[in-house]
Amino acid sequence: MFLWGTATASYQIEGAVSEDGRGVSVWDTFAGEPGRVRDGHTGEVACDHYHRWPEDVELMAGLGVNSYRFSVAWPRVQPTGSGPVNQAGLDFYDRLVDALCARDIVPAVTLFHWDLPQALEDRGGWLDRDTAHRFAEYAAVVADRLADRVPMWITLNEPFVHMVFGYALGTHAPGRTLLLDALPVAHHQLLGHGLAAAALRERGAGRVLITNNCTPVRAASADPADVAAAHAYDTLHNRLFNDPVLLGKYPDMSAYGVRLDCVRDGDLDLISAPLDGLGINYYNPTRIAAPSDEGLPFTDAGITGYPTTAFGWPVVPDGLRELLTGLKARYGDALPPVYVTENGCSQHDEPGPDGTVDDRARIDYLDGHIAALDRARAEGVDVRGYYVWSLLDNFEWAEGYHQRFGLVHVDFATGRRTPKASYHWLRERLAERTGADAVPRKP
Ligand code: FCB
Repeated sequence: MFLWGTATASYQIEGAVSEDGRGVSVWDTFAGEPGRVRDGHTGEVACDHYHRWPEDVELMAGLGVNSYRFSVAWPRVQPTGSGPVNQAGLDFYDRLVDALCARDIVPAVTLFHWDLPQALEDRGGWLDRDTAHRFAEYAAVVADRLADRVPMWITLNEPFVHMVFGYALGTHAPGRTLLLDALPVAHHQLLGHGLAAAALRERGAGRVLITNNCTPVRAASADPADVAAAHAYDTLHNRLFNDPVLLGKYPDMSAYGVRLDCVRDGDLDLISAPLDGLGINYYNPTRIAAPSDEGLPFTDAGITGYPTTAFGWPVVPDGLRELLTGLKARYGDALPPVYVTENGCSQHDEPGPDGTVDDRARIDYLDGHIAALDRARAEGVDVRGYYVWSLLDNFEWAEGYHQRFGLVHVDFATGRRTPKASYHWLRERLAERTGADAVPRKP
């Protein structure tokens, strides 16, 4: 059964940050510091999903999706990131999973979507190898409670983005600015993935995946300097996180003066244990030129000539086909089935005078990307799922509540949910799917 779903993440939707024994996460700390998040927004209330989840499950049932990708907040389950387990935190996800199963919506659980317990960050966070071991311990705790009903597990969300924004540039929590010295964060996250995957398997988890953010990289020109810079960027963004998982080795980065000294014997065996799928998040391609100064070996040249989202991201639907067929060409038989675990766009959506939200640009975005997905499948890529980011407008990290990605509009003052035109459009499109792509409906 092809999985058609929506995706969310705990810190972006839950709120209730100090309820029922939840510990502090790096995002609570970061958002609480002046100047970190636009207009001082925080995830303290967010979509209040922690209380409104039954309504959100009904919204998904009404949409007609057959899967829901959400993340578990580690500090709800282990408030200090290790040791004592907070049963009340697990109970929340237990109830959610039961409600999803009752609606025939397959739960797809992400174990880490960036909200690390602050107590672990205080000990070095992902710069510290021990965090990988703590992550596996936490994965085991969650699996012990949920693996009997959750068939699909995603260890990490976008370790590249977490490393770059969280540890290299400091625009996301935990706000470190280490540039290339952030690289151990790549290895420790991947080691955490490998250890957690083994713990999940021991507990009978069905499908185990990792989700990587991937982008097709284009050189700004045929100039060899631009081509070399594009190669460097592709290595860092795409291959650094796919090669070790799929091929059991890191790409050669010595030309950029980069070495991963923290890799120990046996790590890559753990990291490359076979997976049931590769999760891919796609938003846009990237155009890269040679750098104008010393520092990083590339510069973002920007893509022009396409419509842009509210975030300013270029809308290039065929980039999804290009990415998927490119992965197949690069990895061949080493590529497991692919799940597009995020794809979507932010728009300036507000209800009109009649209360409806006419997000035509999102309909065009999704229409184009689903068509590109179909083309990639027709070209032989084994894709097994597609998740729209996102079900709800939510806390968009450093942009706070300024970027609306939802199929459902959220009034953040009241929590009121209003399905947008794209929600109604997607429901009709899903209902038209036939054969193996059909979404079975309860009578
Ligand atoms: C991805 C993140 C997700 C959301 C979208 C817009 O990089 O995984 O949480 O912020 O971008």
